[in-house]
Amino acid sequence: MRVEKEAVFAFPEAKRPGKALAEALGVPFHPVNLHHFPDGESLVRVPGAARRAHLYRTLDHPNPKLFEVVLALSALRDNGAKHITLVAPYLPYMRQDKVFRPGQALSQRVLGRLLLPWVDAVVAADPHLHRTASMETVFPGRRSAAVSGGKALARHFKENGIDKASYVLGPDEEAHHYARPFAESLGLKWGCAEKKRRGDREVEVTLPDNADVKGRPVLIVDDIASSGMTVVEAARAAKKAGAKKVSAAVSHALHDEAAAEKIKKAGVASLISCDGVPHPSNAVSLAPELAAAIRGL
Ligand code: R5P
Repeated sequence: MRVEKEAVFAFPEAKRPGKALAEALGVPFHPVNLHHFPDGESLVRVPGAARRAHLYRTLDHPNPKLFEVVLALSALRDNGAKHITLVAPYLPYMRQDKVFRPGQALSQRVLGRLLLPWVDAVVAADPHLHRTASMETVFPGRRSAAVSGGKALARHFKENGIDKASYVLGPDEEAHHYARPFAESLGLKWGCAEKKRRGDREVEVTLPDNADVKGRPVLIVDDIASSGMTVVEAARAAKKAGAKKVSAAVSHALHDEAAAEKIKKAGVASLISCDGVPHPSNAVSLAPELAAAIRGL
């Protein structure tokens, strides 16, 4: 097998964003072949080789995908890779960043230890780094970068326009680091709500007293929509407070069709997302940010 200097490799479901990344980097692209045996085992084949290899696979629905990623990383190394970057726009198991109840696994640390032997670098988009200082904590001794989906979304609104009266709403306290730079880069008013989570699909969102949303378009921004209930409750609160129109923009859309319907019913006129996780709401390519992060490693 001819060993190229540098290339991007991507799993079948990520051909489009994988190719976009290869184009942004100006390097060849190779699809990874994947076969599932009737008993559920996976056969991974990487039909290409590069000294500097970037493996693209987003890790939503992580349980079946993770082991296949390890198989591909192993094959890349066997094919002659000297430096491997795992490009996982959605990096899973980052929210379990501490033991919340005795007996739970510290999932974030387990994920790091699982991938550490196989990778030289990791690039993700908005990994959940709320209590963890940096990616370096999860992947000690490896180069890493966290790109901002918020930046990509702001680029989208700069190019496509946004009503200057819009109020940017982060749906919880943790969204400060996301909503603020997003809003400031667009010159918009912003604020963050308070959120109480009572269960996987039960959240309560309360707007801050000084939220200036009455008569304005409100744009809810967040790193993830998972069950979608955070967006639903933030939209309801904004509507109750007199918002003229509510829309939403998230880095990673993980929610299913039923959740999308609930979001619509809550009065959200449109929800857009970055293409790190394939989803009908994808509107913004992360390729420029991912390529810049890889070049900056
Ligand atoms: C929480 O820290 C995250 O930023 C999101 O707000 C949360 O994960 C969204 O979850 P869901 O869509 O299930 O409410």
